[in-house]
Amino acid sequence: MYVCLCHGVTDRRIREAAAAGARDLADLSAMTGCATGCGSCAQLATQLLAEHRAVLDFPLPLLQAA
Ligand code: FES
Repeated sequence: MYVCLCHGVTDRRIREAAAAGARDLADLSAMTGCATGCGSCAQLATQLLAEHRAVLDFPLPLLQAA
């Protein structure tokens, strides 16, 4: 899904930026251009980045077969 129409940034690109080390909107903007145009995507982009960071920072443990 497109999050930033001004710069064609998708939720997948935000996930990739998170995996590459983006920690906040400033990082994401520097890496993708997201939220550097009209700015209307900033809130959603920040939310998606935080969700992706949470998964990376606190991964679920793998279930082990009994
Ligand atoms: S939609 Fe992202 S800067 Fe305009």
